[in-house]
Amino acid sequence: MKQLKIPSSVFLTTAAEFYKTSLNELKGKNVVLFTSSSNAKRLSLLHWIELLSENCSLTWIDKIPSNPTYVDVYNTLSKIRNRDIDVVIAIGGGSTIDMAKACVGLNYLNANAMLSKNDVLHCIKTKDYLEHPSDIPIYAVPTTAGTGSEVTQWATVWDMHEKAKYSVDAAFLCPKRAYIIPEYTVTMPKRLTLSTGLDALCQAVEAYWAKSTNCMVKELSKTAMKLIVEYLPKVLSEPECLYYREKVCLGSLFSGLAFSNTRTTTCHSISYPLTMIFGIEHGIACALSLTKVFEINLPAIEEVDELFDALGVSSTDELQEWLDKTASGIIDLRLSSFGIQEKDIPRIAELSFTLGRMDNNPVEITYDTVKDILMDVL
Ligand SMILES: [Fe+2]
Repeated sequence: MKQLKIPSSVFLTTAAEFYKTSLNELKGKNVVLFTSSSNAKRLSLLHWIELLSENCSLTWIDKIPSNPTYVDVYNTLSKIRNRDIDVVIAIGGGSTIDMAKACVGLNYLNANAMLSKNDVLHCIKTKDYLEHPSDIPIYAVPTTAGTGSEVTQWATVWDMHEKAKYSVDAAFLCPKRAYIIPEYTVTMPKRLTLSTGLDALCQAVEAYWAKSTNCMVKELSKTAMKLIVEYLPKVLSEPECLYYREKVCLGSLFSGLAFSNTRTTTCHSISYPLTMIFGIEHGIACALSLTKVFEINLPAIEEVDELFDALGVSSTDELQEWLDKTASGIIDLRLSSFGIQEKDIPRIAELSFTLGRMDNNPVEITYDTVKDILMDVL
């Protein structure tokens, strides 16, 4: 039996409409709001936050960092200790939404007055939070177009010291509502537009060929790919065009819905050490290996013609040409442009095997294969 999970209610709306309805609905409630510091200013959220604080009991957690670590989760948890929470709202990119999920998932730990950073890490590693499901609803409002975090049930949490990446992963963490507001993405810098758009593209392609794919996921993936391939270059040329922004937001949403059913594969698995060690933006880190992984997977991909068709290319070489052209003037899609040298490759390859991602690839990938892929894109 094939099943498609769409657990979030998704709204495509404007900022004005979101502000109006949220102010009405949240009146008198205990609200925790997560934002990154740059977003509050960039999106002119301050007036809405002021009104919100007059109408409900508001705890505002700003300055959520990119790629949050378990220490960041611990620090943020301590800010919501002893707070009653009716609703959590996360307005931001994937990191902000992930932080909201991690804090909802681990909020039960706040009952322990002696809570330590290591307790947080231990409960993430052992998935202890699964024994303590939370009924706090999360409303996710993405301000980038690409990560899909607004419709997935997992959050990425890093341990930079140990060079490890963990997931806080539970069905109860999937946002109850996702508000897609294309105008929020208009002021994204070009490089962030590119990186998040490429993340959405990789997630859609990887959902298509994942071991865990199905025919419904593939239709969502193809729709996502068509939208991103057509509109990402357009939005990079005309960043202020709201119509193009909306199309990329929809591409990102469909990509999120697709891979929320399958999880990702080799490109994402290889991306994690590239982000962790070299700070490469997530979407760019995924896109670096997309074509090479595609070539390896080619014999195992069912209905591969439809995949090429959705990408608007007839070969993996043409896909690489599209990637290079789309990224040109922003970033050179080679590892060396991020300071990576041949001597770094064995270490990256060793850290490239994330359970649930690499083993979700349709072709088995070995350590030597990863080294070959990385050498090819050096
Ligand atoms: Fe991703």
